[in-house]
Amino acid sequence: MPLARSLSVTSLSGLEEWDEEFDLEDAVLFEIALEVANKVGGIYTVIQTKARLTSEEWGENYFLVGPYVESNVRTQVELIEPTNPVLKRTIDKMNSSGCKYAAQCEEPPHIVAHFHEWLAGLGLVLCRQRQLPVATIFTTHATLLGRYLCAGNVDFYNNLAEFNVDKERAAAHCAHVFTTVSQITAIEAEHLLKRKPDIITPNGLNVKKFSAVHEFQNLHAQSKNRIQEFVRGHFYGHLDFNLDKCLFLFIAGRYEFSNKGADLFLEALARLNYLLRVNHSDVTVIAFFIMPARTNNFNVETLKGQAVRKQLWDTAQTVKERFGKKLYESLFSLPDVAKMLDKEDFTIMKRAIFATQRQSQPPICTHNMLEDNSDPILSCVRRIGLFNSSADRVKSSCHPPPSTSNGLRGLVRGCHLGVFPSYYEPWGYTPAECTVMGIPSISTNLSGFGCFMEEHIADPSAYGIYILDRRFRGVDESCNQLTSFLFQFCKQSRRQRIIQRNRTERLSDLLDWRYLGRYYISARHMALAKAFPDTYIYEPHEPTSTSGFRYPRPASVPPSPALSRHSSPHHSEAEDNDEDERYDEDLEAEKDRVNIRQPYSVPFK
Ligand code: G6P
Repeated sequence: MPLARSLSVTSLSGLEEWDEEFDLEDAVLFEIALEVANKVGGIYTVIQTKARLTSEEWGENYFLVGPYVESNVRTQVELIEPTNPVLKRTIDKMNSSGCKYAAQCEEPPHIVAHFHEWLAGLGLVLCRQRQLPVATIFTTHATLLGRYLCAGNVDFYNNLAEFNVDKERAAAHCAHVFTTVSQITAIEAEHLLKRKPDIITPNGLNVKKFSAVHEFQNLHAQSKNRIQEFVRGHFYGHLDFNLDKCLFLFIAGRYEFSNKGADLFLEALARLNYLLRVNHSDVTVIAFFIMPARTNNFNVETLKGQAVRKQLWDTAQTVKERFGKKLYESLFSLPDVAKMLDKEDFTIMKRAIFATQRQSQPPICTHNMLEDNSDPILSCVRRIGLFNSSADRVKSSCHPPPSTSNGLRGLVRGCHLGVFPSYYEPWGYTPAECTVMGIPSISTNLSGFGCFMEEHIADPSAYGIYILDRRFRGVDESCNQLTSFLFQFCKQSRRQRIIQRNRTERLSDLLDWRYLGRYYISARHMALAKAFPDTYIYEPHEPTSTSGFRYPRPASVPPSPALSRHSSPHHSEAEDNDEDERYDEDLEAEKDRVNIRQPYSVPFK
């Protein structure tokens, strides 16, 4: 058992170094959730990504407790014998006589039990009811009632009996420390669960740093190429737009049409379509809807499109090889270029071009939808008339989520903008994932992520973090604001997009567990101090210091838009292609660094 652990985080560029030492000699941490090694939703990601940092701190005294699901155990768990004698005794006892408690040994350690979500909260209530000597924490990731009420399409009155929030409220009230993932969910919890959270514990990510600083830009270009290939196949016969001037937008998440703001996004796309058309813009926008609608397989049109694209590719390769051979041979004498493509070459090219003739519009969906008639996205597409016609400057394409996380990551990287105009979003991992990949995003001031970024960045949109006001504006006004964000984004030049991606990626450290883990640490300290006041003392700082730090406006803001380095992405200028800007921005990045205060210091006696 470690005597004392020091958690030192020093490599967070720009963020304050964190060196906190505290005595864990006699403490054990249990984290309990239904989603431990059991993926249901976002809590799995929280626990899985946070585990590394927590075990760096607690070592062998950290235990995750979840449901025993045979298939998950086989794929995600390595079975070992416990080395800790207290734990071994406890497990033996549990095995022989059912679930007796750990804390009943002669010299129990100081136990912290951290329960996530109401399903696990029952254990917390029982701990308190039986007056076990355990420091308890309850984290709610969304309130039950909030989720029901915001979903909109829930049959509220016929399900009234199901809306039992007593268990959730009991867990929140019994816990020594109550936490939630964002400021917006804290407000919700205060009103619906009637307890104000003691600490906000935002969700972090394990940020992967590349050794080459601009690797994420290269990865964007590579992934974008793959998306362009898909578009060539999907829109074959209608490729009357310039792929190089094509912007890829996406929305992804649980299929909750209104909660996720897919309704607002579609309406804003219709308005954007109008704006791009009347302004004779040469930009084409393709919006991907990545949501798990019920489907059975790829539809015929999609498969045919990709087959046609492949055929064109193969034809080009064949003709290229023949042409190359003839060109090489003719270089020995005076080449007659006109004779280099013979009749057969023309024939196979004509045949391939003929295959691209198409009477139908490019499909909206890549798959056969099982509920085509009632599907909310398709119904909305029909109502607003976004049918992928040639005149449309905004096209759309619906996909079920790729089967692998790598597939989804590739799509995110290759897009230009993630759009998440959520109405109900306690945190919002997808915009956070966009940020660490250097992809700008639109979120809202009703999402945990949006509130967090608004609080920590002086000028979020300069960093590619657009925050839509869905809290204080009506739906129509919010939709206009979203349309305006999208339209301004379409006016950016390539250079401006590259600069903006650099800035977005620079925020990664803010979302890294290595920074955000401190809130969980504070919650544990607070719980230990409340449960074992003779051993631990928790002294929170002044409330003002809990707000942490703010990223300032980028130092690269130019005095005049006429200068070549544009600070605000919102300026219109002919598309420029100065990729050196990627590197120039690094110099500016240095100026953007700020010192960050640590939100809490937790002295222990
Ligand atoms: C990255 C690549 C560049 C590429 C650019 C495209 O920055 O490093 O080589 O030109 O992406 O940017 P865009 O916003 O047009 O996809």
